Parts: sequence; C-alpha cells; structure tokens
Amino acid sequence: MSEKEIRGASEAEIAVLWGEEPYVYPSTEFIAQANMTDPGIYKRFSLENFPNCFKEYADLLDWYEYWHTTLDTSDAPCWKWFVGGKINASHNCVDRHLARHRNKTAIHFVPEPIEEKTEHVTYQELWVRVNEFAALLRDFAKLKKGDRVTLHMPMVPELPIAMLACARLGVIHSQVFGGFSGRACADRIVDSQSRVLITMDAYWRNGTLGDHKKNADIACELAARDGQKVDTVLVWQRYPGKASSPTPMVKGRDHYVNELLPDFYGARVEPEKMPAEDPLFLMYTSGTTGKPKGCQHSIGGYLAYVAGTSKIVLDIHPEDVYWCMADIGWITGHSYIVYGPLALGASTVVYEGVPTFPDAGRAWRISQDLGVNIFHTAPTAIRALRKLGPEEPAKYRYRYKLMVTVGEPIEPEVWRWYHAVVGKGEAAIVDTWWQTETGGFLCSTLPALKPMKPGSAGPGVPGIHPVIFDEEGNAIPGGTGRAGNICIRNPWPGGFQTIWGDRERYVRQYYARYCRNPQSKDWRDWPYMTGDAAVEAADGYFRILGRVDDVINVSGHRLGTKEIESAALTVPEVAEAAVVPVAHEIKGKEPDLYVSLKPGFSPSAELEERIGQAVVREIGKIAKPRKVWIVRDMPKTRSGKIMRRVLAAISNKKDVGDVTTLANPEVVEEIARMAG
Ligand code: PRX
Repeated sequence: MSEKEIRGASEAEIAVLWGEEPYVYPSTEFIAQANMTDPGIYKRFSLENFPNCFKEYADLLDWYEYWHTTLDTSDAPCWKWFVGGKINASHNCVDRHLARHRNKTAIHFVPEPIEEKTEHVTYQELWVRVNEFAALLRDFAKLKKGDRVTLHMPMVPELPIAMLACARLGVIHSQVFGGFSGRACADRIVDSQSRVLITMDAYWRNGTLGDHKKNADIACELAARDGQKVDTVLVWQRYPGKASSPTPMVKGRDHYVNELLPDFYGARVEPEKMPAEDPLFLMYTSGTTGKPKGCQHSIGGYLAYVAGTSKIVLDIHPEDVYWCMADIGWITGHSYIVYGPLALGASTVVYEGVPTFPDAGRAWRISQDLGVNIFHTAPTAIRALRKLGPEEPAKYRYRYKLMVTVGEPIEPEVWRWYHAVVGKGEAAIVDTWWQTETGGFLCSTLPALKPMKPGSAGPGVPGIHPVIFDEEGNAIPGGTGRAGNICIRNPWPGGFQTIWGDRERYVRQYYARYCRNPQSKDWRDWPYMTGDAAVEAADGYFRILGRVDDVINVSGHRLGTKEIESAALTVPEVAEAAVVPVAHEIKGKEPDLYVSLKPGFSPSAELEERIGQAVVREIGKIAKPRKVWIVRDMPKTRSGKIMRRVLAAISNKKDVGDVTTLANPEVVEEIARMAG
C-alpha cells in the first residue's frame, strides 16, 4: 500500500517520515546487569514453539492450580489462555511478596504540591489497605465476583489499591481516565452496567486542587438517564477528614471511604481463586465508530504477559525504582505502573501531577530523590520537557539505566536528546509500540540483546510475529520501503479477549479484514489487524507511521474523530462536523474541527468558543480542538461524503490535490483562504 492508498485523512497519511537511522548500542554496564541476555529467547519464542513458549511468562506467577491447555482456539478469534488454571492477580501483586519484601516500598506516591511529603507505601501497608478496602467493597458495597465497577480516580495510591481490591474479589474494574468528563464516565458506567462508582473528591493538577466530585454527580445523573442507576458512590477524600470539594454528598448514595474504613479495620479477605480466563478489567478506548469500546482483559494471560514483558523489556529487577509517568487511567498505567511492576515485586512511582509543575526540573528532582533508575514516558512529554528546560537534566544527580518511550512515533532528533541529555548517554532506550487492545508490548528491542535505532520501535518482542499486509492481503517483505497495515500473525496471552458485550464488533474490527476463513479454529487464519501503518526495514525493525483509521493520537492519548464530532453536534446550531489531525510540535497531533451551521445561523467567535467547550464538556480537556473553523459548507463528494482528506491537507498546509471531481470544489478554495 502506498501512502496515497491509505484511506481518508489518516494520521499515517500526514505522518512525518524519517529514514532509517544508524544503530546505537547499549553499554556493557547495562548488559552486565540485564535480566535477558540470552539470544536463545527468540528461538524459544519462535512460531515453531508457539503457544507453549508462553509458559515461560506464566511461570513467573503463583498459580493455585496449573492450567491444562495453554491456548484454546475453539471459539476463534476469542482466544483463551492457560485454561484450567486458577489464579488471583491481587495475590500475585501483593501477598506473595510479603515473605521477602514486607518492608519494601511498593508504591512511592509523590503529591503534586512540592511542600507535601512523598508517601512510601510498603508491601505490608499495601496488603493491609487492599484487604480492608476489599472487605468494604464486599460487605458494604455488596460487590461480588463478576460484577463491574467503574473507577474515576486521579493518580493517587488509592487507585491501585482499589484496582487490587477489586481483583482480590474477582470484581471487574473499569478505570476511566481522571481527566475525562462526567459525560465520558457516564457512557462507560452504562456500557459496563456498573452500579458502583469509586472516585475522589479532588486532586492537584498544575497547581490547582480541582473539584472532581462534581464529575461523579454528572456521571450518575447522565447514566441514570441512559438506564443505568448507580446506587453507591464511594468517595475517597484527597485529605482524609476534610472535604476538598464544594459539591455536596448525595444522601444514601455517596459515602466517604475514610469514614467507612474504620468498620473494616483489620479485615482480611481471602483472594478468590479465579479461572485464568475470567476478566480482570475493562479499558475503554476510541475506535472507528462513535462509541468507545470496552477492551476486556483476562486475569491469567494478561498478568503473565505484563509480568514477562516488564521483566525482559523494561528490565525490572526487584531492587529497581521504576517510574512510569503515564496515567493509570490508560493501558500503559494498568500494565506498566500497576500490574507488571507489582507482579515482579518492584517499587513503582505514582506521581499525582503534571511533569512540568512547578518547573521543568520536577521530573529530574523526583528521580534524584527517589533513586529512580528506570524512567518511562511518552514523546509528547519528552518534547515538552526539552522545550521548557533542555539543560535541566544535567543539574540533577539521578542515574537511569533504562528509559522507555511509548504512545506515538518519536522523531530521531527528540530520541537523541532523550538519550544524550535525559539518559546522560548511559541509559538504554526501548521504544515500545503497542495498544490498549494488546495488553502489553508488541514491538520493541530487548535492551541488552538488540541495538537501538532512533525513530524505530524495533522487531516484534519474543512471541510476537508482526507482518505488514497490503490492501490485498499480500505480505510486504522487509526492506522494500513500502508501507502497509501492520498485523500480528499469532495470538498472545496479553491480547484482549473481546469488546465488552460486542463480540461481533471485535471480530469485524480486528480480524475480518485479513481472516482467511471465518469458520476456521486455527489461529493461523486469524491475523490481528492493529489499525496502524508501518514500514519494515531489512533488519526486521518496524517504523510505525500512525493510525490508518478514524483515530487521532493526541499527546499519546487516543481520541475517536467520531466522538469529537458527536460532541460538536450537541451544539444546536451545528449541522455537520468533521475532525482531522494536525501535526503539532509537542503533542504529535491535535484535532482541528470543521463545522457547518444549520440555515439561519451565522458564525461568531462566541459560537466557536461554545463548540470548543462542548467538546471539553462531553469528552474532556485533552480533546479540545486546536481551532474550530465554521465553514459555509463541507467539501463533499458527489455522493455527499465529507472529504476529510481535503480538510486535513488544508489544516496541515499541504497540497489538497485534485478536487475538481467534488460536488462543490469552490468551497475548498474558500476554506483554504480561511484556514490556510
Ligand atoms: O498508533 C499507535 C500508537 O498508539 C496507538 C495505541 O494507542 P493506545 O491504545 O491509547 O495505547 C497507547 C499506549 C500503548 C497505536 O495504535 N503508538 C503506541 N505506541 C507507539 C505508537 N506509535 C508509534 N510508536 C510507539 N512506540
């Protein structure tokens, strides 16, 4: 598939392409201490040894009962891993570490205000708090195995505590990113049929203690309107004993967790022995159609996969201090702040606020103070830190052995600053490419075994066998320079099991395109389609070009263009809306929103503002358009389809190409004058 053939106004189409860069080698010091230095791992995880190779990851965990079937394909493409196995994620992330690491820090919590002290939650304390909260969930909130509960929590230790308490009971958690709106939270409550919401009254962000409780009220009200009643809202107080939100508690529905907890003082809850293939959590993400979809992740397969990849890709040893600056509300945080590192008994950092508060040195001071030696973040944060304080890292005495980048393609120039300045030329870098759906890494170098290549994610990680297909389903070999749809040939234990309540959409969206035989029970017939475009180099390294579908990656956060368009359409004057990605130097991409008005209405700055605010209200601040362009009419094909490709070209100041076949070519010129 050439770039031109990638449909619509996709990210891949406007991707900034760079060439193949020379290798950069990790230091001998790094290699000497690495968890994985045996090149034989690639052979062990080759397709010949599939699926049994994944036993190596499952054996990192404690099982109540060992499984009898590694991979059950009888319900293809809903794969079941480690069937027959019984396991509990909370036990694996907490209880089993007590014998040797009781007094070790499990979670370093760094509040955003600099005058507040870092909280060091030991494994013992984590165990106590998880048990007491699990007892509360079971006995007060009446939650039981298989129930879904929605969490709308900020970056505080109470979030992993709540997740692990749910996991202990076999309750399925669904954490909604704290920055999302009450409306977005409501949609997820309804889809997952949650009757309990867990939230916090307030949290710090960029120097402000914002009212978060109000989002819970909006969420419950809107969910009820859509037919899902929330009967219990559990509200943690950011400062226990003190109300930090002016929003009143609703009698009979809302309860302060810290007022209930004394009733559960000393309570201990036996972890449920859960079937490995039962769901652990739902994580909603944006897709090609309007509604966000709940990716359902399993207990056994998921935990094995994130533990295994945390060990060999992130090189986490129990004595490491590991800081992933993502938000736990995204998959990166679930897999690589909470479940992976805690399964390995490491110390993981949870930072409440923004990385540049109060200045560009904050991240480096946190690293210095806590002795962080593995640092994990996204290109958007790296670009922002570089812009605000290119000389800052040199002022601090932290020392990283490994650094991670995730979420979007990283420009080689930004990569080199990360390596030379943040990593002080010493740290190895892994560029990890994956998705909410995949649970864990798909492509990355193994840091002690493969050289790094700036701007390239690297080969498939052990057990992941990527392939690039053209539009006809022919594999494009490496080294041709041709882009195509990157797919994975085989299932793996971290992959999501289905879309919650919508198996048909799961099959259609991820498998239908390249499936060789829809009746087949053989995994070889079901390549997984990621929705990204990529190029494979001659050495088997993959360069990711971005999304080929209607998804925009803003600061590493995934937003559906349809979601933003629907938000704009809630404004009564708006007749049509179209969103396109625009390249941005820090965020990677930003949404530009084009709207046309219903007859009788005229454009105004006030209306533009109101439309922008509607997007913030419906989704959250991260979705706010760069600019709202009110246009007389949308460029359309003769069949009436909005030509987003043309709008994207205008927004990105690129050539719009041949528009003479459109129904209304004259509006293109008009819009280009306005937005160009
Ligand atoms: O386009 C790819 C991009 O982020 C998308 C997945 O987004 P999400 O489900 O929110 O998960 C983000 C964290 C795993 C992918 O389809 N992406 C992710 N990592 C990279 C990337 N693009 C380039 N390089 C990466 N390392």
